[in-house]
Amino acid sequence: AKHLLGIEQLAPDEITTLLDLADQYVALNRQPHKHSDVLAGLTQINMFFENSTRTQASFELAGKRLGADVMNMAMQASSIKKGETLIDTAMTLNAMHPDLLVVRHPHSGAVDLLSQKVNCAVLNAGDGRHEHPTQALLDALTIRRRKGRLHRLNIAICGDIAHSRVARSNIMLLGKMENRIRLIAPPTLMPAEIDHFGVEVFDNMEEGLKDVDVVMMLRLQRERMDGGFIPSEREYYHRYGLDQAKLDNAASDAIVMHPGPMNRGVEIDGELADDINRSVIQEQVEMGVAVRMAAMELLVQASRETAQGVAT
Ligand code: CP
Repeated sequence: AKHLLGIEQLAPDEITTLLDLADQYVALNRQPHKHSDVLAGLTQINMFFENSTRTQASFELAGKRLGADVMNMAMQASSIKKGETLIDTAMTLNAMHPDLLVVRHPHSGAVDLLSQKVNCAVLNAGDGRHEHPTQALLDALTIRRRKGRLHRLNIAICGDIAHSRVARSNIMLLGKMENRIRLIAPPTLMPAEIDHFGVEVFDNMEEGLKDVDVVMMLRLQRERMDGGFIPSEREYYHRYGLDQAKLDNAASDAIVMHPGPMNRGVEIDGELADDINRSVIQEQVEMGVAVRMAAMELLVQASRETAQGVAT
C-alpha cells in the first residue's frame, strides 16, 4: 500500500506482517543503542491539527530512531491561522519533497483527501471519529504479546464508542482477526451504525464484562459532544467507570487497556489504571513507538518496490 489511512484497507496477513516487524522494533527499542538507518536520507513531516501527546511523540521518536529527518509542523503557528486551507498547506509542504506525512485532523476523511493530492506516503494519526489505525495496531500488538495470540479472544470495548476513532479502528482490526467483540456503553454513546459492526452490544458493565479476556476503556470525549447528551461524571463513573468490583466479572487474567489520555475517576479508577498486575496502559505506549516504526518502514519499502517496478 502507498498510504496507511485506516484498518479498513488492511488484510489480516498485512496486519500480522506489520506486528511481526513491530515485535523486532520492541526489542531494538529496549537496547541502549536504539538506532537503525532504514529511513536514512528520508524526510518525515508531522502535521497535527489536533492536540496529541502519545501519537505525535511516538511518530517523532519512531522516525528519528529509523534515521529520518523529522520535522514537526507547529500547526497553531502556521499560515492555517491566516486562512490557508488544509490542501494548500499540504501542497506547500509536498513541494519540499517529504517522503512521509503523518497527519492528525479533527475532520473524518480529511487525511484521505490530503493523501490524494500529495506525492508521498501519508499515515493517518487520527481523523475525527473515523479511524486511528496505528492506535489499533499498537493495541493489537499489546494484546498479542500479553495473551500469546490475537484470535478467538473475548474483548470488551467500553464507554464513549460513538465519538471514538479508536473504537472504530479496533472493532475492524479485532474483527478481521476473528475475535469476539462486545461493546458496552450507554445507548446515547453507541454509534448509529452499530448493526454493521457484527458485535454484541450491552448497556450494563457487569453483564458485558462477564468472562472477557481484554477490557478496553475509552475516554469520554466531551469536546466532540457538541450540544448533545453530556452525562454527569459522577453518574457515568458509577455506571460505566471501570473499578475493581466491575473488573471482577471479567476473566481472572483479563488485561485492562486505555488508549490515553485518560480521565481518572470518570471512565477508570486511578488505582486500577496504575495496577501493573492488570493494567497494560504503559505497555500500550511502548508498543506505539515500535508499531509506528514498522508502519513507516513497510510504506517506504512498498514505495521503493513500486518505483523499481516502474523503472524496469
Ligand atoms: N491515544 C492517543 O491518540 O493519544 P494522543 O491523543 O495523546 O496522541
